[in-house]
Amino acid sequence: MKKLLFITGLLIMLAACRGGEKEQPEGEHQKTQLEINKENADREEGDHVESAAEIPPLTPEEKQQYLDTAKAIAKEAFGIFSGHLNRLFAEKHPVEALEYCKQNAMRITDSLSKVHGVTIKRTSYRLRNPDNAPTDQEEKIMEIYRHRIHRNLKPEPYVHYDNYGYPHVYIPIMVQEKCLMCHGDPNKDIPDEINNKLAELYPGDKAIFFKPGDLRGIWSIKFPKKHGSDQSGN
Ligand code: HEC
Repeated sequence: MKKLLFITGLLIMLAACRGGEKEQPEGEHQKTQLEINKENADREEGDHVESAAEIPPLTPEEKQQYLDTAKAIAKEAFGIFSGHLNRLFAEKHPVEALEYCKQNAMRITDSLSKVHGVTIKRTSYRLRNPDNAPTDQEEKIMEIYRHRIHRNLKPEPYVHYDNYGYPHVYIPIMVQEKCLMCHGDPNKDIPDEINNKLAELYPGDKAIFFKPGDLRGIWSIKFPKKHGSDQSGN
């Protein structure tokens, strides 16, 4: 019975996560993740780098500054995310967890962006929500990270000027045990009820069969152009 309640809570939460990003209040508004992603996609059109190493480097001080800020933002976002997951796992208030989740989707994409004056996005090479699709550059970065992991090297946060001259930080998101219930093997890690709901909400879901230690995706954090910067990134 307790288990059933828990699963029901999870399902409600899943539905809320799905809906949360779509519903935007009318009026004053902040960019939605979809708009941000579209902007990114538009920006990337027709432009491509062969490898991250081709992009001109920032000074070490600037690099450190951007990395530190981006890490702090990602940590905050992770904190919100795990806080909400832990709450779910605590089995206490599934409805509250639902609210939490709904707010998080907003907070991560809009409020964090606003507060820090950056564009923050979560993306992957195996997507659940196609709205989170990566740009060419993000794909490259994930490829590099996956190669590193394959060679038993740690994927490290990375900063460069992107193709359009924006300082841009990427931070790896790794798969942990607690992610498997929704991103693991549907035959053994993911409960049937969640499998069914995922099939309904995310047809074509590719974010399954992950294992702990895999790269799940990245945080992609774009900073505003610096004043007086003549960097074009090319
Ligand atoms: C309760 C189920 C659940 C758990 C547990 C879960 N996720 Fe997810 N995850 C989802 C759903 C649902 C989405 C799609 C959200 C959306 O619609 O944008 C998602 C999307 C993502 C994305 C965005 C890319 C994409 O595929 O759309 C990343 C990255 C991600 N999850 C990482 C993680 C990590 C890392 C963990 C473990 C720390 C985790 N998730 C645990 C349900 C879950």
